[in-house]
Amino acid sequence: MDKFIIQGGHKLHGEVTISGAKNALLALMPASLLAKGKYVFSNAPKLGDISTMSKLLETMGVETSHKNSELSLDTTNLNKYEAPYEHVKKMRASIYVLGPLLSRYGYAKVSLPGGCAWGPRPVNLHIEGMRKLGAEINLEEGYIIASAKRLVGTKIVFDVSSVGATGNILMAAVLAKGTTVIENAALEPEITALAKFLNTMGAKISGIGTTHLEIEGVDDLKPCSVSTIPDRIEAATFLCAVAISGGEVVLKNVLPEHFSAVLTKLEECGVAFLLKDDTIKITSDGKIQPVNVTTSVFPGFPTDVQAQWIALMTKSSGTAYIEDKIYLDRFTHVAELVRLGADITMKDNVAIVKGVKTLKGAKVMSTDLRASASLILAGLAGEGTTEVLRVYHLDRGYDAIEKKLQKLGAKIERVAGKEF
Ligand code: UD1
Repeated sequence: MDKFIIQGGHKLHGEVTISGAKNALLALMPASLLAKGKYVFSNAPKLGDISTMSKLLETMGVETSHKNSELSLDTTNLNKYEAPYEHVKKMRASIYVLGPLLSRYGYAKVSLPGGCAWGPRPVNLHIEGMRKLGAEINLEEGYIIASAKRLVGTKIVFDVSSVGATGNILMAAVLAKGTTVIENAALEPEITALAKFLNTMGAKISGIGTTHLEIEGVDDLKPCSVSTIPDRIEAATFLCAVAISGGEVVLKNVLPEHFSAVLTKLEECGVAFLLKDDTIKITSDGKIQPVNVTTSVFPGFPTDVQAQWIALMTKSSGTAYIEDKIYLDRFTHVAELVRLGADITMKDNVAIVKGVKTLKGAKVMSTDLRASASLILAGLAGEGTTEVLRVYHLDRGYDAIEKKLQKLGAKIERVAGKEF
């Protein structure tokens, strides 16, 4: 239960290297269950959710090793097909093991994820999709118990675009008998990265990068290695940090086409960019125009940047409306930002943010990852000292965020403790 202590009011300057994408690697790792053998994922971020996924895979007999930014998995001795509650309750992405275990071994027992700080997050699309592929599924004592001799290709039309369900069904369908069609598939870059990885393993997926995916089932796949795509949400978080603090920073290892909606909105705020190869230079004088956003599926504005955007708008020169259409209750950061002096009112799933001249340091804490990131941004821009408690939420999804910020000139330090 560490905390961060931030002295606000310092401009950011220098270079920062963006890590590999958490949400991409969280899908690639379970894909390794589809074929026994050795896998190496380079550009693998060191963060809590990745180690939770590693621990979950270890309970199944997978050997893991994460040195620097290279994550190795050896699935040769896989011998258990279960994701226990202890792991799933820590991280919902654990449900990604359902598809690969079911299609490769004909059986999976996966704890049902509960609700989370953003309200209910159902997994009905995952379950209905597996049923359509021919699996028998029972829900017993909080577990999804799925079995099938061999899954059979079918047509699946999602009524909601879901990253997780698209990934899970893809991993199930690659070894099914016959062809599966997914309509309204998620377009997020992490799903595209997964589909490409599966094809490198020997799968036959076409339509990658569109909402219409066709998967011709194959009998076998082989292990392979890949570099993880850059984390677009970490990149967007650093862009918002520079925008609100002022300064000039070069982000390295980025794919701007993965966060063009965020760049467009930042430009409307008055922030300048220079894109070159896989880098982006951002320059900000810290003066922010108010800009409304509505979250939507890729390539729209990501819900995973909604909290950071609200933090940015707390210092704008007017009023901005931020609507989350993906997760209607994902606003736990609002009350904490108000503790820092922000002027925010909620109307259903819309935050109405009136920019204030100054935010003032205080103790704050949050109950989720991106919400915690928004508190850091506000702390960087605030007057005086902000303490962000419970930084384990940040450690779930950011690789050494305080060290990267320190290198840019931010005054932020981690204090280890038990009672924060
Ligand atoms: C993933 C990301 C998360 C991001 C979210 C939306 C990972 C590990 N996590 O989560 O950071 O915020 O995408 O971009 O990649 N839904 C259903 N039924 C289902 C599944 C989803 O109704 O079975 C709904 C959800 O409630 C939500 C919407 O679909 O409103 C999108 O959720 P989804 O894309 O599935 O999110 P995750 O994959 O859980």
